[in-house]
Amino acid sequence: MSELNQAELDRLLSEAKATDVSTPERLEAFRIAHFGRQGLLKDLNERFRAVPGPQKREMGQALNTFKQALQAHFDGAKAQLTAAEDAGTSGMDHTRPSGEAPLGSHHPIRIVRREILSIFDRMGFTVADGPEIEDDWHVFSGLNFPEEHPARDMQDTFFIQRNPDLLLRTHTSSVQVREMEQREPPLRIVMPGRVFRNEAISARAHCIFHQIEGLYIDRDVSFADLKQTLLVFAEQLFGSGTRIRLRPSYFPFTEPSAEMDVYWGLETEVDKRITKGTGWLEIMGCGMVDPAVLEASGIDPKEYNGFAFGMGIERIAMLKWQIGDLRAFFENDIRFLEQFTAAH
Ligand code: DAH
Repeated sequence: MSELNQAELDRLLSEAKATDVSTPERLEAFRIAHFGRQGLLKDLNERFRAVPGPQKREMGQALNTFKQALQAHFDGAKAQLTAAEDAGTSGMDHTRPSGEAPLGSHHPIRIVRREILSIFDRMGFTVADGPEIEDDWHVFSGLNFPEEHPARDMQDTFFIQRNPDLLLRTHTSSVQVREMEQREPPLRIVMPGRVFRNEAISARAHCIFHQIEGLYIDRDVSFADLKQTLLVFAEQLFGSGTRIRLRPSYFPFTEPSAEMDVYWGLETEVDKRITKGTGWLEIMGCGMVDPAVLEASGIDPKEYNGFAFGMGIERIAMLKWQIGDLRAFFENDIRFLEQFTAAH
């Protein structure tokens, strides 16, 4: 065994520092090899004893410095491993800036609903809500439906068997009645919601769908106010320059009543098919609120009048994206839904 000297200590230290201690196992092997009972330090201590007297003091200091450096290297490596482990087991670094979280996409019905509501919001309409399970009064009688009206037929309406006065609302017009009963005019509200009809499911019909209802009640409201409101709405939804027309129609709760069409065009074969060769598409029903309806809800028809309108959201979504089958909205097929990520 050669005599202990500074050069050897320097070499041993740089070897030690070059040892890979990046895992707990390697660090433990390092500890045993250097600080263990059969380890390097024990070996060096033994050799130190053999150092001749005159050099003992100098060699002792050199050995101490070596031990301290070795210990410092070990402690540093251990601290690093512990920090890495902590980060690893807690699973996250709370100081890291967050990336973009993938949040999926909005349902197309929701996108159109929001677009329609925001157009009416800009015209000063607020949103009102009502129950999906309703009574006969709010869905039919309060809206001037005669006792024998076909909409009350079991064919069209889901009645609650235990209580025949209760049913799933067939339109959002029921919310008009609730709002007129509860509030004083002026009223300027839009009422979105789900409606239910006893219909066989097909590409063009579904037993559940969505509507948005509108109601404007004030003094001296005219049919021109209705027409202008709907024109502004159509232009905002389908683009400026959109043409509309109002065709006479019938609803029990409005007088006069109309259907609103927008001009879609006749350029392509699809245009011809969806407009049945006319170029016009029916978008909603509307009219001046029947005085009997105002009166039934406690509003004096001599003082107030107004207009109402109602539209199907699915229908507008189908036009907007040229969707040919209504069932796509209800099947929750991810391949369909994820196409709307860029649409909001
Ligand atoms: N409730 C009608 C339906 O479901 C739509 C409707 C037509 C609503 C005329 C109205 C209106 O407010 O004035 O077919």
